[in-house]
Amino acid sequence: MASNYHLFLLIFVFAGAFLESNCKLTQNFYKSKCPKALSIVQEGVIAAIKKETRVGASLLRLHFHDCFVNGCDASVLLDDTSSFVGEKTAAPNKNSIRGFEVVDRIKAKLEKACPGVVSCADLLALAARDSTVHLGGPSWKVGLGRRDSTTASRSAANTSIPPPTSNVSALISSFSAHGLSLRDLVALSGSHTIGLARCTSFRSRIYNDSAINATFASSLHRICPRSGNNNNLARLDLQTPTHFDNLYYKNLLKKKGLLHSDQELFNGTTSTGALVKIYASNTFTFFKDFAVAMVKMGNIDPLTGRQGEIRTNCRKVN
Ligand code: HEM
Ligand SMILES: *[C@@H]1O[C@H](CO)[C@@H](O)[C@H](O)[C@H]1NC(C)=O
Ligand SMILES: *[C@@H]1O[C@H](CO)[C@@H](O)[C@H](O)[C@H]1NC(C)=O
Ligand SMILES: *[C@@H]1O[C@H](CO)[C@@H](O)[C@H](O)[C@H]1NC(C)=O
Ligand SMILES: *[C@@H]1O[C@H](CO)[C@@H](O)[C@H](O)[C@H]1NC(C)=O
Ligand SMILES: *[C@@H]1O[C@H](CO)[C@@H](O)[C@H](O)[C@H]1NC(C)=O
Repeated sequence: MASNYHLFLLIFVFAGAFLESNCKLTQNFYKSKCPKALSIVQEGVIAAIKKETRVGASLLRLHFHDCFVNGCDASVLLDDTSSFVGEKTAAPNKNSIRGFEVVDRIKAKLEKACPGVVSCADLLALAARDSTVHLGGPSWKVGLGRRDSTTASRSAANTSIPPPTSNVSALISSFSAHGLSLRDLVALSGSHTIGLARCTSFRSRIYNDSAINATFASSLHRICPRSGNNNNLARLDLQTPTHFDNLYYKNLLKKKGLLHSDQELFNGTTSTGALVKIYASNTFTFFKDFAVAMVKMGNIDPLTGRQGEIRTNCRKVN
Protein backbone atom coordinates (compact mmCIF):
# COMPACT_ATOMS: atom_id res chain seq x y z
CA MET A 1 0.00 0.00 0.00
CA ALA A 2 2.74 2.43 1.03
CA SER A 3 4.86 1.58 -2.01
CA ASN A 4 1.83 2.01 -4.25
CA TYR A 5 1.34 5.41 -2.76
CA HIS A 6 4.98 6.33 -3.36
CA LEU A 7 4.77 5.14 -6.94
CA PHE A 8 1.70 7.28 -7.42
CA LEU A 9 3.44 10.28 -5.91
CA LEU A 10 6.48 9.73 -8.13
CA ILE A 11 4.34 9.61 -11.26
CA PHE A 12 2.61 12.77 -10.12
CA VAL A 13 5.90 14.59 -9.62
CA PHE A 14 7.19 13.49 -13.03
CA ALA A 15 3.97 14.50 -14.75
CA GLY A 16 4.22 17.85 -13.00
CA ALA A 17 7.79 18.36 -14.17
CA PHE A 18 6.72 17.44 -17.70
CA LEU A 19 3.84 19.91 -17.73
CA GLU A 20 6.01 22.60 -16.21
CA SER A 21 8.64 22.25 -18.92
CA ASN A 22 5.99 22.48 -21.64
CA CYS A 23 4.09 25.38 -20.19
CA LYS A 24 6.99 27.80 -19.93
CA LEU A 25 6.24 29.21 -23.37
CA THR A 26 2.83 30.50 -24.36
CA GLN A 27 1.32 31.32 -27.74
CA ASN A 28 -0.19 34.60 -26.52
CA PHE A 29 2.95 35.95 -24.91
CA TYR A 30 3.06 39.09 -27.08
CA LYS A 31 -0.68 39.52 -27.48
CA SER A 32 -0.85 42.60 -25.28
CA LYS A 33 2.90 43.37 -25.05
CA CYS A 34 3.38 43.67 -28.82
CA PRO A 35 0.25 42.81 -30.80
CA LYS A 36 1.96 43.30 -34.17
CA ALA A 37 4.96 41.08 -33.38
CA LEU A 38 3.77 38.00 -35.27
CA SER A 39 2.70 39.89 -38.37
CA ILE A 40 5.94 41.89 -38.44
CA VAL A 41 7.97 38.65 -38.45
CA GLN A 42 5.73 37.03 -41.04
CA GLU A 43 5.86 40.02 -43.37
CA GLY A 44 9.64 40.25 -42.98
CA VAL A 45 10.08 36.56 -43.81
CA ILE A 46 7.83 36.73 -46.87
CA ALA A 47 9.61 39.85 -48.18
CA ALA A 48 13.01 38.19 -47.67
CA ILE A 49 11.96 34.99 -49.45
CA LYS A 50 10.60 37.06 -52.32
CA LYS A 51 14.07 38.58 -52.68
CA GLU A 52 15.93 35.29 -52.34
CA THR A 53 14.04 32.02 -52.12
CA ARG A 54 16.86 30.15 -50.39
CA VAL A 55 16.75 32.33 -47.32
CA GLY A 56 13.64 30.48 -46.07
CA ALA A 57 15.81 27.39 -45.72
CA SER A 58 18.57 29.40 -44.08
CA LEU A 59 16.17 30.79 -41.46
CA LEU A 60 14.78 27.34 -40.65
CA ARG A 61 18.31 26.07 -40.13
CA LEU A 62 19.26 29.02 -37.89
CA HIS A 63 16.57 27.99 -35.40
CA PHE A 64 17.95 24.41 -35.37
CA HIS A 65 21.52 25.60 -34.83
CA ASP A 66 20.29 27.89 -32.07
CA CYS A 67 18.24 25.29 -30.20
CA PHE A 68 20.84 22.49 -30.30
CA VAL A 69 23.46 24.65 -28.56
CA ASN A 70 22.46 25.33 -24.94
CA GLY A 71 18.82 25.77 -25.90
CA CYS A 72 16.82 28.20 -28.04
CA ASP A 73 18.39 31.42 -26.73
CA ALA A 74 19.61 33.20 -29.90
CA SER A 75 23.23 32.46 -28.94
CA VAL A 76 23.89 31.63 -32.60
CA LEU A 77 23.26 35.25 -33.59
CA LEU A 78 26.01 36.81 -31.48
CA ASP A 79 28.94 38.20 -33.48
CA ASP A 80 32.55 37.56 -32.57
CA THR A 81 34.43 40.58 -31.23
CA SER A 82 37.96 41.06 -29.93
CA SER A 83 36.70 40.15 -26.46
CA PHE A 84 33.91 37.70 -27.28
CA VAL A 85 33.89 34.30 -28.98
CA GLY A 86 30.55 33.51 -30.59
CA GLU A 87 29.27 30.41 -32.38
CA LYS A 88 29.46 31.67 -35.95
CA THR A 89 32.97 30.27 -36.44
CA ALA A 90 32.21 26.84 -34.98
CA ALA A 91 32.69 24.00 -37.45
CA PRO A 92 28.99 23.42 -38.29
CA ASN A 93 28.39 27.15 -38.80
CA LYS A 94 31.48 28.60 -40.44
CA ASN A 95 30.94 29.67 -44.09
CA SER A 96 27.60 28.00 -43.83
CA ILE A 97 24.86 29.52 -41.70
CA ARG A 98 23.19 32.57 -43.18
CA GLY A 99 20.15 34.80 -42.93
CA PHE A 100 21.55 37.25 -40.37
CA GLU A 101 20.72 40.34 -42.42
CA VAL A 102 17.09 39.22 -42.61
CA VAL A 103 17.04 38.74 -38.83
CA ASP A 104 18.48 42.25 -38.39
CA ARG A 105 15.87 43.76 -40.68
CA ILE A 106 12.98 42.08 -38.85
CA LYS A 107 14.44 42.90 -35.44
CA ALA A 108 14.73 46.59 -36.37
CA LYS A 109 11.02 46.63 -37.24
CA LEU A 110 10.14 44.89 -33.97
CA GLU A 111 12.22 47.39 -32.00
CA LYS A 112 10.49 50.28 -33.72
CA ALA A 113 7.03 48.88 -32.92
CA CYS A 114 7.79 47.65 -29.38
CA PRO A 115 11.23 48.57 -28.04
CA GLY A 116 12.90 45.90 -25.89
CA VAL A 117 9.99 43.48 -25.96
CA VAL A 118 10.42 40.72 -28.55
CA SER A 119 13.39 38.41 -28.10
CA CYS A 120 15.72 37.33 -30.88
CA ALA A 121 15.14 33.72 -29.86
CA ASP A 122 11.38 34.08 -30.43
CA LEU A 123 12.09 35.86 -33.70
CA LEU A 124 14.04 32.79 -34.88
CA ALA A 125 11.29 30.38 -33.80
CA LEU A 126 8.63 32.40 -35.63
CA ALA A 127 10.79 32.90 -38.73
CA ALA A 128 11.41 29.14 -38.95
CA ARG A 129 7.67 28.47 -38.88
CA ASP A 130 6.80 31.29 -41.30
CA SER A 131 9.50 30.17 -43.76
CA THR A 132 8.23 26.59 -43.68
CA VAL A 133 4.66 27.71 -44.29
CA HIS A 134 5.56 30.14 -47.05
CA LEU A 135 7.48 27.43 -48.93
CA GLY A 136 4.49 25.11 -48.83
CA GLY A 137 5.06 23.20 -45.61
CA PRO A 138 2.97 22.66 -42.49
CA SER A 139 2.12 25.24 -39.86
CA TRP A 140 2.22 24.99 -36.07
CA LYS A 141 1.57 27.19 -33.07
CA VAL A 142 4.81 28.71 -31.80
CA GLY A 143 5.16 28.92 -28.04
CA LEU A 144 6.70 32.28 -27.11
CA GLY A 145 8.43 33.96 -24.19
CA ARG A 146 12.01 32.84 -24.82
CA ARG A 147 14.68 35.30 -23.72
CA ASP A 148 18.13 35.92 -25.18
CA SER A 149 21.41 34.66 -23.83
CA THR A 150 24.27 36.90 -22.79
CA THR A 151 26.73 34.14 -23.63
CA ALA A 152 27.61 31.81 -26.49
CA SER A 153 29.61 28.60 -26.69
CA ARG A 154 31.73 27.75 -29.68
CA SER A 155 32.80 24.44 -28.18
CA ALA A 156 29.17 23.42 -27.54
CA ALA A 157 28.35 24.41 -31.13
CA ASN A 158 31.18 22.16 -32.35
CA THR A 159 29.97 19.16 -30.41
CA SER A 160 26.16 19.53 -30.14
CA ILE A 161 25.27 19.89 -33.82
CA PRO A 162 25.82 16.58 -35.59
CA PRO A 163 28.12 16.64 -38.65
CA PRO A 164 26.95 15.35 -42.07
CA THR A 165 29.39 12.46 -41.75
CA SER A 166 27.33 11.05 -38.86
CA ASN A 167 26.07 7.47 -38.98
CA VAL A 168 22.51 6.69 -37.96
CA SER A 169 23.41 5.72 -34.39
CA ALA A 170 25.26 8.99 -33.86
CA LEU A 171 22.23 10.90 -35.20
CA ILE A 172 19.86 9.02 -32.91
CA SER A 173 22.01 9.70 -29.86
CA SER A 174 22.54 13.37 -30.72
CA PHE A 175 18.81 13.95 -31.05
CA SER A 176 18.07 11.89 -27.97
CA ALA A 177 20.53 14.04 -25.99
CA HIS A 178 18.24 16.96 -26.87
CA GLY A 179 15.11 15.09 -25.80
CA LEU A 180 14.12 14.30 -29.39
CA SER A 181 12.92 10.86 -30.44
CA LEU A 182 13.82 8.75 -33.45
CA ARG A 183 10.55 9.90 -35.02
CA ASP A 184 11.56 13.53 -34.41
CA LEU A 185 14.95 12.85 -36.00
CA VAL A 186 13.49 11.42 -39.20
CA ALA A 187 10.75 14.07 -39.43
CA LEU A 188 13.10 17.01 -38.76
CA SER A 189 15.63 15.72 -41.28
CA GLY A 190 12.86 16.38 -43.81
CA SER A 191 13.95 20.03 -43.51
CA HIS A 192 16.46 19.01 -46.15
CA THR A 193 13.61 19.14 -48.63
CA ILE A 194 14.70 22.77 -48.99
CA GLY A 195 18.04 24.55 -49.25
CA LEU A 196 21.55 23.90 -50.45
CA ALA A 197 24.76 22.35 -49.20
CA ARG A 198 28.41 23.03 -49.98
CA CYS A 199 30.69 20.53 -51.67
CA THR A 200 32.65 20.03 -48.42
CA SER A 201 29.46 18.74 -46.79
CA PHE A 202 28.93 15.91 -49.30
CA ARG A 203 32.32 15.24 -50.90
CA SER A 204 33.18 12.09 -49.03
CA ARG A 205 29.66 10.74 -49.67
CA ILE A 206 29.80 11.10 -53.45
CA TYR A 207 33.23 9.46 -53.71
CA ASN A 208 33.06 6.85 -50.94
CA ASP A 209 29.52 5.81 -50.00
CA SER A 210 28.02 2.52 -51.10
CA ALA A 211 24.38 3.56 -50.73
CA ILE A 212 24.33 6.07 -53.58
CA ASN A 213 22.86 5.98 -57.07
CA ALA A 214 25.79 5.99 -59.53
CA THR A 215 24.23 8.43 -62.00
CA PHE A 216 23.40 10.79 -59.15
CA ALA A 217 26.96 10.52 -57.80
CA SER A 218 28.61 11.26 -61.14
CA SER A 219 26.44 14.31 -61.75
CA LEU A 220 27.65 15.62 -58.39
CA HIS A 221 31.30 14.86 -59.23
CA ARG A 222 31.09 17.66 -61.79
CA ILE A 223 29.98 20.16 -59.14
CA CYS A 224 32.27 18.83 -56.46
CA PRO A 225 35.68 17.54 -57.61
CA ARG A 226 37.94 15.49 -55.34
CA SER A 227 39.68 18.67 -54.33
CA GLY A 228 38.88 22.37 -54.69
CA ASN A 229 35.57 24.14 -55.27
CA ASN A 230 34.71 23.56 -51.62
CA ASN A 231 31.95 26.13 -51.63
CA ASN A 232 30.16 24.94 -54.75
CA LEU A 233 26.52 24.28 -53.97
CA ALA A 234 24.11 21.44 -54.63
CA ARG A 235 20.43 21.00 -53.79
CA LEU A 236 19.59 18.99 -50.68
CA ASP A 237 16.41 17.92 -52.51
CA LEU A 238 17.45 17.49 -56.10
CA GLN A 239 13.98 18.15 -57.52
CA THR A 240 12.34 20.99 -55.57
CA PRO A 241 14.86 22.85 -53.34
CA THR A 242 12.51 25.76 -52.72
CA HIS A 243 9.36 23.76 -52.08
CA PHE A 244 8.64 22.13 -48.74
CA ASP A 245 7.36 18.68 -49.75
CA ASN A 246 8.17 15.01 -49.12
CA LEU A 247 10.45 14.45 -52.13
CA TYR A 248 13.43 14.35 -49.76
CA TYR A 249 12.18 10.98 -48.52
CA LYS A 250 11.38 9.71 -52.01
CA ASN A 251 14.97 10.52 -52.94
CA LEU A 252 16.28 8.52 -49.99
CA LEU A 253 14.36 5.47 -51.25
CA LYS A 254 16.32 5.83 -54.52
CA LYS A 255 19.69 6.35 -52.78
CA LYS A 256 19.70 9.97 -53.83
CA GLY A 257 20.12 11.72 -50.50
CA LEU A 258 22.76 14.45 -50.75
CA LEU A 259 24.37 14.12 -47.33
CA HIS A 260 25.77 10.93 -45.88
CA SER A 261 23.68 11.64 -42.76
CA ASP A 262 20.54 11.85 -44.94
CA GLN A 263 21.09 8.49 -46.62
CA GLU A 264 21.98 6.88 -43.28
CA LEU A 265 18.26 7.16 -42.38
CA PHE A 266 17.47 4.70 -45.19
CA ASN A 267 20.32 2.22 -45.36
CA GLY A 268 19.28 -0.97 -43.62
CA THR A 269 18.31 0.45 -40.23
CA THR A 270 14.76 -0.85 -39.83
CA SER A 271 13.43 1.76 -37.40
CA THR A 272 14.42 4.89 -39.33
CA GLY A 273 13.90 3.18 -42.70
CA ALA A 274 10.28 2.41 -41.87
CA LEU A 275 9.62 6.08 -41.09
CA VAL A 276 11.32 7.19 -44.30
CA LYS A 277 8.94 4.91 -46.22
CA ILE A 278 5.93 6.28 -44.37
CA TYR A 279 6.88 9.92 -45.02
CA ALA A 280 7.76 9.14 -48.66
CA SER A 281 4.27 7.81 -49.24
CA ASN A 282 2.29 10.16 -47.02
CA THR A 283 2.88 13.91 -47.00
CA PHE A 284 0.15 14.42 -44.42
CA THR A 285 1.88 12.20 -41.85
CA PHE A 286 5.21 13.88 -42.55
CA PHE A 287 3.72 17.35 -42.10
CA LYS A 288 1.94 16.33 -38.90
CA ASP A 289 5.07 14.79 -37.36
CA PHE A 290 7.27 17.64 -38.57
CA ALA A 291 5.04 20.22 -36.84
CA VAL A 292 5.07 18.23 -33.58
CA ALA A 293 8.84 17.84 -33.72
CA MET A 294 9.43 21.54 -34.45
CA VAL A 295 7.45 22.46 -31.35
CA LYS A 296 9.56 20.03 -29.32
CA MET A 297 12.79 21.42 -30.78
CA GLY A 298 11.63 24.98 -30.08
CA ASN A 299 11.05 24.04 -26.45
CA ILE A 300 14.66 23.00 -25.80
CA ASP A 301 15.92 24.79 -22.67
CA PRO A 302 14.56 28.29 -23.24
CA LEU A 303 15.56 31.14 -20.95
CA THR A 304 12.35 32.52 -19.45
CA GLY A 305 11.08 34.90 -16.79
CA ARG A 306 13.98 37.01 -15.58
CA GLN A 307 16.70 34.86 -17.12
CA GLY A 308 18.82 36.36 -19.89
CA GLU A 309 17.67 39.56 -21.56
CA ILE A 310 15.81 40.95 -24.55
CA ARG A 311 18.60 42.03 -26.87
CA THR A 312 17.98 45.21 -28.79
CA ASN A 313 20.46 44.13 -31.46
CA CYS A 314 20.50 40.37 -32.05
CA ARG A 315 24.23 40.44 -32.86
CA LYS A 316 25.39 41.66 -29.45
CA VAL A 317 24.48 41.57 -25.79
CA ASN A 318 22.91 44.77 -24.43
C1 HEM B 1 19.94 15.27 -38.65
C2 HEM B 1 21.06 15.92 -38.54
C3 HEM B 1 21.44 17.04 -39.46
C4 HEM B 1 22.62 17.17 -40.11
C5 HEM B 1 23.81 16.23 -40.02
C6 HEM B 1 22.54 18.36 -40.92
C7 HEM B 1 23.56 18.85 -41.71
C8 HEM B 1 23.41 19.86 -42.62
C9 HEM B 1 24.44 20.29 -43.52
C10 HEM B 1 25.85 19.76 -43.57
C11 HEM B 1 23.92 21.26 -44.32
C12 HEM B 1 24.63 22.01 -45.44
C13 HEM B 1 25.50 23.09 -44.85
C14 HEM B 1 26.51 23.63 -45.84
O1 HEM B 1 27.07 22.86 -46.61
O2 HEM B 1 26.76 24.85 -45.79
C15 HEM B 1 22.56 21.45 -43.91
C16 HEM B 1 21.70 22.36 -44.48
C17 HEM B 1 20.43 22.58 -44.01
N1 HEM B 1 19.88 22.04 -42.87
FE1 HEM B 1 20.54 20.46 -41.86
N2 HEM B 1 21.31 18.92 -40.75
C18 HEM B 1 20.60 18.16 -39.86
C19 HEM B 1 19.34 18.44 -39.37
C20 HEM B 1 18.62 19.56 -39.68
C21 HEM B 1 17.44 20.01 -38.97
C22 HEM B 1 16.87 19.34 -37.73
C23 HEM B 1 17.00 21.12 -39.62
C24 HEM B 1 15.84 22.02 -39.30
C25 HEM B 1 14.92 21.76 -38.41
C26 HEM B 1 17.90 21.35 -40.73
C27 HEM B 1 17.75 22.33 -41.68
C28 HEM B 1 18.62 22.55 -42.73
C29 HEM B 1 18.33 23.43 -43.85
C30 HEM B 1 17.01 24.13 -44.10
C31 HEM B 1 19.48 23.48 -44.64
C32 HEM B 1 19.71 24.33 -45.89
C33 HEM B 1 20.17 25.71 -45.43
C34 HEM B 1 20.45 26.71 -46.54
O3 HEM B 1 20.25 26.44 -47.73
O4 HEM B 1 20.91 27.81 -46.18
N3 HEM B 1 18.88 20.40 -40.73
N4 HEM B 1 22.28 20.60 -42.86
C1 LIG C 1 35.59 24.40 -32.90
O1 LIG C 1 35.76 24.26 -34.30
C2 LIG C 1 36.57 25.27 -34.90
C3 LIG C 1 36.54 25.09 -36.40
O2 LIG C 1 36.77 23.76 -36.76
C4 LIG C 1 37.96 25.21 -34.30
O3 LIG C 1 38.76 26.25 -34.86
C5 LIG C 1 37.88 25.36 -32.79
O4 LIG C 1 39.16 25.23 -32.23
C6 LIG C 1 36.94 24.31 -32.22
N1 LIG C 1 36.88 24.29 -30.76
C7 LIG C 1 36.49 25.28 -29.96
C8 LIG C 1 36.47 25.03 -28.53
O5 LIG C 1 36.14 26.35 -30.36
C1 LIG D 1 28.97 5.56 -35.60
O1 LIG D 1 29.71 6.72 -35.35
C2 LIG D 1 30.21 6.79 -34.04
C3 LIG D 1 30.79 8.19 -33.83
O2 LIG D 1 31.59 8.58 -34.89
C4 LIG D 1 31.23 5.67 -33.85
O3 LIG D 1 31.78 5.72 -32.55
C5 LIG D 1 30.51 4.34 -34.05
O4 LIG D 1 31.45 3.29 -33.99
C6 LIG D 1 29.81 4.31 -35.39
N1 LIG D 1 28.94 3.16 -35.43
C7 LIG D 1 28.86 2.34 -36.46
C8 LIG D 1 27.88 1.21 -36.34
O5 LIG D 1 29.53 2.48 -37.47
C1 LIG E 1 37.29 8.34 -49.07
O1 LIG E 1 37.67 7.52 -47.99
C2 LIG E 1 39.08 7.40 -47.83
C3 LIG E 1 39.31 6.37 -46.74
O2 LIG E 1 38.56 6.63 -45.61
C4 LIG E 1 39.65 8.75 -47.47
O3 LIG E 1 41.04 8.70 -47.29
C5 LIG E 1 39.33 9.73 -48.60
O4 LIG E 1 39.75 11.03 -48.24
C6 LIG E 1 37.85 9.75 -48.89
N1 LIG E 1 37.60 10.51 -50.10
C7 LIG E 1 36.97 11.67 -50.08
C8 LIG E 1 36.81 12.37 -51.39
O5 LIG E 1 36.49 12.15 -49.07
C1 LIG F 1 25.25 2.13 -45.76
O1 LIG F 1 25.64 0.85 -45.37
C2 LIG F 1 26.89 0.42 -45.91
C3 LIG F 1 27.09 -1.03 -45.52
O2 LIG F 1 26.96 -1.19 -44.14
C4 LIG F 1 27.99 1.34 -45.38
O3 LIG F 1 29.22 0.99 -45.96
C5 LIG F 1 27.67 2.77 -45.76
O4 LIG F 1 28.59 3.65 -45.17
C6 LIG F 1 26.28 3.14 -45.24
N1 LIG F 1 25.89 4.51 -45.51
C7 LIG F 1 25.82 5.09 -46.70
C8 LIG F 1 25.23 6.44 -46.73
O5 LIG F 1 26.22 4.59 -47.75
C1 LIG G 1 19.99 5.86 -60.85
O1 LIG G 1 19.25 6.98 -61.30
C2 LIG G 1 19.02 7.00 -62.71
C3 LIG G 1 18.27 8.25 -63.04
O2 LIG G 1 18.87 9.37 -62.47
C4 LIG G 1 18.24 5.79 -63.13
O3 LIG G 1 18.10 5.79 -64.54
C5 LIG G 1 18.96 4.53 -62.69
O4 LIG G 1 18.16 3.41 -62.97
C6 LIG G 1 19.26 4.58 -61.20
N1 LIG G 1 20.11 3.45 -60.86
C7 LIG G 1 19.73 2.48 -60.05
C8 LIG G 1 20.69 1.39 -59.80
O5 LIG G 1 18.64 2.49 -59.51
